[in-house]
Formats: sequence, C-alpha cells, structure tokens
Amino acid sequence: MSNQEQHDAAHRPVQRKEMSRRQFLSYTLGGTTAFMMGGAVLPMVRFAVDPLLVKKGEGTFVKVVEESKITTEPLEVKFKIHQIDGWYESEPELVAWISKDAQGNIFALSPVCKHLGCTIFWNTKGQNEYDCPCHDARYSKDGKNITVANAPLDEYEVEVNKENGFVYLGPLKPNTRV
Ligand code: FES
Repeated sequence: MSNQEQHDAAHRPVQRKEMSRRQFLSYTLGGTTAFMMGGAVLPMVRFAVDPLLVKKGEGTFVKVVEESKITTEPLEVKFKIHQIDGWYESEPELVAWISKDAQGNIFALSPVCKHLGCTIFWNTKGQNEYDCPCHDARYSKDGKNITVANAPLDEYEVEVNKENGFVYLGPLKPNTRV
C-alpha cells in the first residue's frame, strides 16, 4: 500500500453497521422476556426438584422402649418420628404392638387393619388375638389375618441395642412371620 493510500485509509470515516429499529426492539423485548421467564420458572423448577436432592435421613430407626419391658404379651408402644415431606416437616405419632415370640425374638406389628385401615387392639375379646372394632377382623399374635381382612398386619423393622438395652423400630415392611 502506497503512502497516499495509507493516508486515505487512515482518514476515511469509520463505517458502522447500523442496527435497525426493528432489530433493536426485538433484542430488547426478547432479552426482557427471557429474563422475566427465568425469574418465574427457575423458582418453580427448584421447588419441584429440591426435595429430591435432599439426602434421606440416616437415623431411620427410632428408640421406642426398654427391651426389659417386652414380654410374650403384646405391648402397645407409641413413638414419634421426624418426617420430611418435600418442604413440610412434621413429627407424627405412630403406634406399634411389640412382643416376643416363643424363641425370645422381638417383633413389632403395625396397628393398621388390612381391611379398611381402622386401628386394631390386642385381646379386646379375650381370645388372645388382635381385634378390629370396625368390621370384626381378627389377627393372630403374629399378625396373621384370620377373618375379614385379606392380608396380615405389616411389621416394623426391629433392632435391639444391647448396650443401652432399648428396642429401636425402623420402616414398615410386609409381615415376615406368617
Ligand atoms: S377396617 Fe378393620 S375390619 Fe374393616
């Protein structure tokens, strides 16, 4: 490039690429809309997903009663669990019927009748069975359904801590005894 050409190039006005009014409006409105949508949608996504990311509590077993109190006669034991359901935390009270079998193994049954969900009680009719007051379902001491209900009582997971002498209950599971 000659000196004259360099001089001309240096003094030539800079040519800018102009943005049209339409483009400007499109970019501005598009950006604002995306920003507002993000502000509205992100909290909803977080609300929906966040409980799934929370680690499950490790202490799922709850200390409920001294082992020394458990005999072959079922004992009604009430206890509370700490429950997190999404954002809602609560401490519902649960009930278990705990007893020992002939071998001295401790087991715990759910009080929820398998017919329509009423609460069963031990030996209300003097027959050494669990009885349901709603429609007269009966269950054996192991939770086996005898009449009306078509499934045995659920069973809690049980752990006995020999160091402190307490019985701990975990989640419910299908009856393993019948
Ligand atoms: S709910 Fe227990 S017998 Fe119907």
